[in-house]
Amino acid sequence: MTAVHHDSAARLWMLSTPGSSYVVRLDDEGRLRHLHWGARLTPEQAAALPHLLDVATNFDGELAEEYPGEGGARFGVPALRLRYADGTRTTQWDHTGHTVDGGLLTLAFRERLSPLELRLHYRVHDDCEAVERWAELHHGGGADDTVRVQQLAAARWTLPLLPDYRISHLTGGWSAENQLARAPLARAETVLTSRRGITGHQANPWVALDAGDAGEEHGEVWGSALAWSGSWRITVERTVHGLVAATHGAGHEGPEVLLRGGGSWRTPVSVGLYSAGGFGGASRAWHAYVRAHVLPRPDELRPVLYNSWEATGFDVDEQGQRDLARRAAALGVELFVMDDGWFGARKDDSAGLGDWTPAPDRFPDGLAPLAAEVRRLGMRFGLWVEPEMVNPDSDLYRAHPDWVLNETGRPRTELRNQLVLDFARPEVAAWAHDRLDRLVRDHGVDHLKWDMNRVLTEAGRPGDPDADRLWHDHVRAVYTVMDELRADHPGLRIEACSGGGGRTDLGILARTDQVWTSDNTDALDRIAIQHGYGQTYPPGTMGAWVTDSPNPLTGRALPLEFRFHLAMTGALGIGGDLTEWSEDELARAAGLVERYKRIRPVVQRGRLYRLADAVQYVHEDEVVVVAWRLARRHGAPVVPLRLAGLEPRGRYRDLDTGEVHHGAVLTSRGLTTGLTRDHTSLLLHLRRDS
Ligand code: GLA
Repeated sequence: MTAVHHDSAARLWMLSTPGSSYVVRLDDEGRLRHLHWGARLTPEQAAALPHLLDVATNFDGELAEEYPGEGGARFGVPALRLRYADGTRTTQWDHTGHTVDGGLLTLAFRERLSPLELRLHYRVHDDCEAVERWAELHHGGGADDTVRVQQLAAARWTLPLLPDYRISHLTGGWSAENQLARAPLARAETVLTSRRGITGHQANPWVALDAGDAGEEHGEVWGSALAWSGSWRITVERTVHGLVAATHGAGHEGPEVLLRGGGSWRTPVSVGLYSAGGFGGASRAWHAYVRAHVLPRPDELRPVLYNSWEATGFDVDEQGQRDLARRAAALGVELFVMDDGWFGARKDDSAGLGDWTPAPDRFPDGLAPLAAEVRRLGMRFGLWVEPEMVNPDSDLYRAHPDWVLNETGRPRTELRNQLVLDFARPEVAAWAHDRLDRLVRDHGVDHLKWDMNRVLTEAGRPGDPDADRLWHDHVRAVYTVMDELRADHPGLRIEACSGGGGRTDLGILARTDQVWTSDNTDALDRIAIQHGYGQTYPPGTMGAWVTDSPNPLTGRALPLEFRFHLAMTGALGIGGDLTEWSEDELARAAGLVERYKRIRPVVQRGRLYRLADAVQYVHEDEVVVVAWRLARRHGAPVVPLRLAGLEPRGRYRDLDTGEVHHGAVLTSRGLTTGLTRDHTSLLLHLRRDS
């Protein structure tokens, strides 16, 4: 069966992935209705689908429309909200045609009384479960003809009518990102959002819905995520009639986009993913999708990196970095990243942002000697940058005080003593591109850690009444600069960072290689942060450093092995002050780095199973398990760890001890971990012999 099926008699379209189908149909009045998202159907079964809902009273109208606008008896969350120059809000959309190109379906509509065209795009792939959707609005009128776009959703994801629903989403804050929350879905509108101009630490543009009966490895789960790194909004509505739908859009309420005749507006992609394999099955399907269709370089084995931030703070100079580099190289580190503090007058967070040239007092001969030393030690060289930002105390700001976001006569709110550059202005983006390009070219930089350490405030542009669109254009300009840098420097890696994990989303992952998951490097706190991250985003993109003990943020002391094992469940990095580590610690660390390199293909490319106080990865015939023990009450039962995803008849050899385990025993009885003390951990590497 083809990926896109069209039944012209039924006026129906069905998209199919290997394990699911998605069906829409035009009703007798020409309205596009959602019919199905779930188990895979045949064309014949799809044609037999009844409408989901048909409620029409004086007070209500619920039709499960695929992409509702305003006007008529529509009272739910609109996918499309417009205002014409004369104040009219009603739109009426007539279907005008469709195109199919491989797995891409485009449905076209024309507004009855105005020259607006709407296109709804759907795309499926034959190797993964994702359905990608986005919308495009084109204004075919004259240049003076305008319409205000208040909401143009990327997609509205409608779910089947089920007796109950539960919502899973991520909450948190700085240094406490990705906390998984799971609760009954209210009969209300539940809004997940960022109004900050970045993806945000407080919420993440991903949501999963289930009937309340899904578990880690069983049950139906409907997930959806927006590929966008600015403000966003996901509204999950659940009505008294049982309709459940999640509307995804870029931008938050308030700002609107002025669309002129001749202009078009295109949304970012929203991705829906149905899984019948529980939350774990859904996560594995997300990871497969991200690897196959999002990441620019999915096959790269992520290098073990060292980052200087927690070791030095802003106290960066050539000798100090050389000392760290030498020790890092001896541990087996492959990429040395010098963090904040190497440029301009940067000695603390009060000055220097914007002046992307080496600090003359700390790097009198520029960065070349350090870069050469790092390479001589056999590592690649990376640098921290924060291109969207400026300190008022900087040469850049003194030269271009007009380059920052601001509103005439209003305060310029400083956060961390910095202001946001108006990246959507072509001259600002061109300047940033030029600076970064030169930096990469002049110093052969292999890796940029691209940070963004504050959110947008007073996001205006004096003299431009339509500056609202900069909320969108800022993000697009960041994407463009990243894309251009990657195109010009094919070996360049980019790490996404926004005060830790404030920019974690499918949009940024399309042009970066990994994410700095959180500024919180405490291995115990990381368990929850990484658990949330892995719901959608693959472990190979999840930057995780081993830092000092006690942890500088939380003050908690944890064993070196525990810190390493938890960091080895993602893209391993080291961020401690190695000049303070004892010879014994350095030797153990070197052994753990070597071990990580052996398990790395399994962790970074494998299928992830979340177990009780453990994670497991399966890749080809290899299995890696990282288990940990938290504080436990005396007398609490010590239960074996049941593994998952193994071949029951397989024999699995422990590559460290040579011991052989039976698949069926590991999954049914479980593994005795021997973890008898708090904050101890275990790393197991198995290979299937037969
Ligand atoms: C942010 C990042 C840190 C570090 C600092 C430097 O907080 O998340 O990892 O780079 O900025 O100022």
